[in-house]
Amino acid sequence: MKDIYEIAVVHGDGIGPEVCAAAVEVVKAALGNRSHLNFREYPAGAEHFLKTGESFPEPTFNACRNADAILHGAGGIPGVVHPDGTEAGLDFTLRLRFELDLYANIRPIRLFEGVTCPLSGVKAGEIDYIILRENSEGLYAARGAGVQLRGELAVDSLVQTRSGVERIVRKAFELARQSNGAPRDGVKRVTCCDKANVLRSYAFFRSVFDRVAPDYPDIETEYVLIDAMTMHLVLQPGHFNVIVTENMFGDIISDLGAATIGGMGLAPSAELGDRNGFFQAAHGSAPDIAGKGIANPYGTVLSAAAMLDWLGTKHADRVLCEAATNIRNVTNTALASGCLSADLHGSWKSADITQFLCERLARLH
Ligand code: IPM
Ligand code: MN
Repeated sequence: MKDIYEIAVVHGDGIGPEVCAAAVEVVKAALGNRSHLNFREYPAGAEHFLKTGESFPEPTFNACRNADAILHGAGGIPGVVHPDGTEAGLDFTLRLRFELDLYANIRPIRLFEGVTCPLSGVKAGEIDYIILRENSEGLYAARGAGVQLRGELAVDSLVQTRSGVERIVRKAFELARQSNGAPRDGVKRVTCCDKANVLRSYAFFRSVFDRVAPDYPDIETEYVLIDAMTMHLVLQPGHFNVIVTENMFGDIISDLGAATIGGMGLAPSAELGDRNGFFQAAHGSAPDIAGKGIANPYGTVLSAAAMLDWLGTKHADRVLCEAATNIRNVTNTALASGCLSADLHGSWKSADITQFLCERLARLH
């Protein structure tokens, strides 16, 4: 347990500041007068890049590296790009992942009561799995390092290392062990999602998976190719428990999975290394709805709950773990009682949802 936890907060762009402020308020309400979190804000993102020419200032990086945890709204403005065409507003997220070695991106996909599922006949609780996205190598490792020649050739390479694959696969088995198994049959199962039938890099990923799997005889294993996976996530989402996959594939199926539970606004993520933890919703900065007060704060609120859980477990701090549980419980209540934002076909403003959550949390003290 620590006396004070330093949380580096970066609001970012678009709806980032709105959802980030909502999450901080909810965390404060969950902790009440027991609060021992020190939130400090730092600049980064596309807006900051436009103002200063810097997307991710060094002091912000140092603060994030040294903080106990990092909380982010969302980053990026389309069209605000580097000379190579890539978005400046994404530097914050991507540099943190690579420079702090945040190799495990944990993305729970869960269908909440009160939310309309776009898949027919699927009820709350029947979708409940984790996408474990490898977050430090894969195709994204080529970011800023690919080849561009004479404006007529561009190459990005997909990188897999034995140690990199092994650590993410082990994490997948550990997550499955801690889980309740797949909703459909209660089986604890790790699905290796790749394209091993076509590319060597994925065949290698699978071969490392095969070497690690026997260490976890209590967990069922299977392979699903990425193309088939997009179909299964729509047709039989209840079969899945933990899906482990390469960086880019994980990015893509995160959005697909989110769509099946009501949209990106309900998809949290936790990006973890052996020392640092970075928490933000899986969605982007949605500049089209920024400043209107209608952004969905749940994804960031749930990411902040994951932050409290991670900190609480790491530092054996029960107050933080309890606060995380309380935030998840009031989120369940809020959604089930119809506090739905525009993206969820409701008419609740972000501020009203935040207030609902905070009031319910205050009652728990
Ligand atoms: C995500 C996002 C990021 C990604 C962006 C913001 C760099 O889409 O976290 O899924 O592409 O990984
Ligand atoms: Mn994404």
